[in-house]
Amino acid sequence: MITKELLREEVASRRKSENRQSVESKSIEITSRVINLLPFIKAKSVMCYMDFKNEVITRYIIHHCFEHGKRVVLPLVDKTDGLKRIVPYEIMDEKRDVAPGMLGILEPRKDRAKSFNREEIDVVIVPGVAFDLCKNRLGYGAGLYDRFLSSVNNNCTKIGIAFEFQIYDAVPLEEHDIPLDFLVTEERII
Ligand SMILES: Nc1ncnc2c1ncn2[C@@H]1O[C@H](COP(=O)(O)OP(=O)(O)OP(=O)(O)O)[C@@H](O)[C@H]1O
Ligand SMILES: [Mg+2]
Repeated sequence: MITKELLREEVASRRKSENRQSVESKSIEITSRVINLLPFIKAKSVMCYMDFKNEVITRYIIHHCFEHGKRVVLPLVDKTDGLKRIVPYEIMDEKRDVAPGMLGILEPRKDRAKSFNREEIDVVIVPGVAFDLCKNRLGYGAGLYDRFLSSVNNNCTKIGIAFEFQIYDAVPLEEHDIPLDFLVTEERII
């Protein structure tokens, strides 16, 4: 099987060659599939990520949440004790409550956003580099999401979103990797 490193390189170069218009239109298609999933419809709180470098754009999902009275939660990468970890924060305003953090990715502002109890997150929209047909995911290699997903409520629905070119038959898997409940692309729901 292809190694994690090779897979990460392959997807990164494929992502670079995508034009912005295609990223936008595919992201809108993905959004419409996500917002029609039953666990998403029922969700009172949704944790999103902030996209960067041609990842699936989450802005449309966030807008939908605000319009439908769903609470919006974003990850803040905390590194106080040396180990980087994701801490969830609720935002009320998509623009005012965020600022650039690690790698320039937008993060919730500690002075404006409110720490959110991870037990109360109903849906997590999960980013990733590559995914497979068994809904396994490969991330950027920090183990950030693996650790975070192992700490949320059992009833929390984990939805991976990705472009078709990020879907492989199988990605390398380890004990700590947490599979998703749904994988949504511009063409299908897995
Ligand atoms: N639940 C966990 N508990 C302890 N260590 C973990 C856990 N999950 C991941 N790690 C550590 O993080 C390292 C990176 O994991 P992995 O290669 O799965 O990252 P990834 O899934 O690509 O990254 P990410 O989750 O940040 O997107 C692993 O070597 C592992 O030691
Ligand atoms: Mg992993």
